[in-house]
Amino acid sequence: MTTISGKTAFVTGGASGIGYALAAALIREGAHVVLADVESGALERARTTLAGNGSRVTTAILDVTDRDAFARARDQAIAAHGAVHLLFNNAGVNAAGPVQTLTYRDWDWVMGVNLGGVINGVQTFLPELMRHGAQAHLINTASVGGLVGMKNLAIYNAAKFGVVGLSEALRADLKASGVNVSVLCPGIVTTALTTSERNRPEHLRNSSAPAPVASSTSASAVAPNPVAMSADALAAFTLDAIAANRFWIVSHTEFMPLIEQREASILQAFQGEPDPGRVQAMRALIEPF
Ligand SMILES: NC(=O)c1ccc[n+]([C@@H]2O[C@H](COP(=O)([O-])OP(=O)(O)OC[C@H]3O[C@@H](n4cnc5c(N)ncnc54)[C@H](O)[C@@H]3O)[C@@H](O)[C@H]2O)c1
Repeated sequence: MTTISGKTAFVTGGASGIGYALAAALIREGAHVVLADVESGALERARTTLAGNGSRVTTAILDVTDRDAFARARDQAIAAHGAVHLLFNNAGVNAAGPVQTLTYRDWDWVMGVNLGGVINGVQTFLPELMRHGAQAHLINTASVGGLVGMKNLAIYNAAKFGVVGLSEALRADLKASGVNVSVLCPGIVTTALTTSERNRPEHLRNSSAPAPVASSTSASAVAPNPVAMSADALAAFTLDAIAANRFWIVSHTEFMPLIEQREASILQAFQGEPDPGRVQAMRALIEPF
């Protein structure tokens, strides 16, 4: 069990979409919140809307790829709240398209935010999560795109598979540390992810911007999507999973057959049956979760 009431949560990408909905749900559960986001106008609007519900709400203008800024935001959060107990590495962007049309700028931007931002969050906050001795929880937002590869999502898949792998390793490493770990892998959610380009920094913009391609996991805010979940429903589902200390936070059951198919195809590719002695020796060697 992870208790939420009375704790302080640091939420990256907290000005919009899933991050904002998580912050609102956390406040409803009695947590205090630091909203961290690169978009200053949206951040201020979020703070104004969420403040005044009995919880302390502060903000940090933060680009998660900027390690020095991350350290400053952490120090400001600790100064304002005393401690940080819950870290949501949630900020994310998408540049979808066939891999042959992608540029190094696309790769650097999406990998930098979606994987680099999570790495920076872990490196910056892990000492704090372990410092205060209270129960802590680290939640990384991946995606079903971190569980199955999909057309037009090469960079997004590479980053989100990285987030899932990192989270599994964190869970193994932190087993006895008092820091619980979860990985959030949603399917389609109604948010502003399809307009991620609004946050692409100037130096990573393509000289001729390709027409954005709608992708299977980012078709969200603009067109109503029959299989999209609301960010509020996802946030409620996520907080329940955190309270129950579930590692996998998987919300969209329509992806189950795809995940089953992927796992089955990997298992079918093995030749022969595993030798129990070698399995035991390997498990002892790599200490999986
Ligand atoms: N919407 C979906 O269908 C969906 C599905 C699976 C996973 N996700 C993941 O959920 C997370 C949240 O995305 P969302 O759907 O709410 O989109 P969103 O665009 O509504 O919210 C993303 C937030 O991240 C912020 N952000 C972008 N770049 C940043 C940076 N460099 N530093 C700090 N903040 C930055 C944005 O300003 C925005 O507030 C992302 O990691 C995304 O990959 C979304």
